[in-house]
Formats: sequence, C-alpha cells, structure tokens
Amino acid sequence: MEKFRLKNGFEVLVRNLNCDDYEAFCGFYEQLATETIFTNQYVGRPRRSRESFEARLNDENIYKLVALNDDQKIIGVCSVVIERPEHPWLNKSCDFGIMILREYTGKGLGFYMMKKMEEWARTKKMHRICAQVRAKNTAAIALYLKCGYEIEGMARDAAYIDGQWHHQYYIAKILDKE
Ligand SMILES: CC(C)(COP(=O)(O)OP(=O)(O)OC[C@H]1O[C@@H](n2cnc3c(N)ncnc32)[C@H](O)[C@@H]1OP(=O)(O)O)[C@@H](O)C(=O)NCCC(=O)NCCS
Repeated sequence: MEKFRLKNGFEVLVRNLNCDDYEAFCGFYEQLATETIFTNQYVGRPRRSRESFEARLNDENIYKLVALNDDQKIIGVCSVVIERPEHPWLNKSCDFGIMILREYTGKGLGFYMMKKMEEWARTKKMHRICAQVRAKNTAAIALYLKCGYEIEGMARDAAYIDGQWHHQYYIAKILDKE
C-alpha cells in the first residue's frame, strides 16, 4: 500500500485489489463507461459475478492495482494478465490495461501505475508486455511512448462505436532490454 501525490497536490492510495472491493470495482467500471470510448467498457455491460471477481483475485497470473481517493472510491485501475502461463512458448508475454476516471487524469497517476505494472511483470520474469490502444487515444499513446513502448502495427476497423469504425494500434515493450 502506497500513497501517491497527484500533480494537483491531492494524495491517492495505491494498493492491490482485494475481496472487499467488489462493489467499488463494479462502480468504477460503470462510471468509466460513461466517460470514455477508449476502453472496452460500455454502458449496460453486465457486471462480472462476485465468484469470477474473487477467482481472478486468487489467480497468481493476474495483477490488479487500484488507486483510491479520500472517500475510498476507486478512481484508477490497472491490470496485467499472463494469458498463457502453461504454454512453454508463450508464457513470457503478458497483456496490460490501464484506466483512470476523467477527473483524475493528466495528474501523473497513469505514469506511476505503468511503472508499478512493469515492476510486477519483471518479478514474473516477463519478456514482453503489450496492449492494444485506439488510434485516436492520443493521451494513452503519448503515455505508452513515454514509458518506452513501441507501436508494432495496426488493427484496422477493430471496433465499431456509435456508427464509426476505429483502428487500434498494437503496442509493446521488451522488458529485458532495460
Ligand atoms: C490514458 C491514461 C491511462 C493516462 O493516464 P494519466 O494519469 O492521464 O497520464 P499521466 O498524467 O501520468 O501522463 C503521463 C504522460 O502521458 C502523456 N499524456 C497524458 N495525458 C495526455 C494528453 N491529454 N495529451 C497528450 N499526452 C498526454 C504525457 O506524455 C504525460 O507526460 P507529462 O506529464 O510528462 O506530459 C488516462 O488518461 C486514462 O485512463 N484515460 C481513459 C481510459 C483510457 O484511455 N485508458 C487506456 C486504454 S488503452
């Protein structure tokens, strides 16, 4: 558990997700869905069941970090998943996701959480960490480039949102290089 001071001076608490967070966690995604089309959360998306939430908490191949404000509200979530831990060829690659409520963006929290995710991935001896990002998501792309990620390619028309097709970039970083 750590405190992180945002650029506006406010402090947030950053810690691992735990089993008491179920309601706050679902509420976070529900709010996020109303704020941005840059994640895969959409308004009306069914909640993950509590059983599935808890099962994922106990999965050693999943890392979930949350940031909370003074009211104990979750205002940021990031996660890393080792998708194929059993596979001898694919088990050194992991996928990440990061999302912060609009009120708290642009204050340094994204950069801080990216570093925490990479620390975890390194403890798991990951070689590659990757994600997809909508091509119009300039804030996220700038963050990833700042953190040393590279754009590897583009998935054309990967998402159809409100009558428009959106391209997505594949982005990745080779951790062993640092
Ligand atoms: C993308 C996101 C995670 C970035 O986190 P953040 O806390 O806002 O980013 P930070 O304040 O830590 O900024 C880190 C760097 O990212 C870049 N950046 C952040 N916001 C930016 C913006 N609006 N425009 C351009 N660059 C931006 C800058 O390079 C910045 O470095 P600087 O502070 O030295 O200028 C956050 O905006 C977010 O959650 N957005 C909504 C959900 C989303 O898009 N998730 C990613 C899906 S792939």
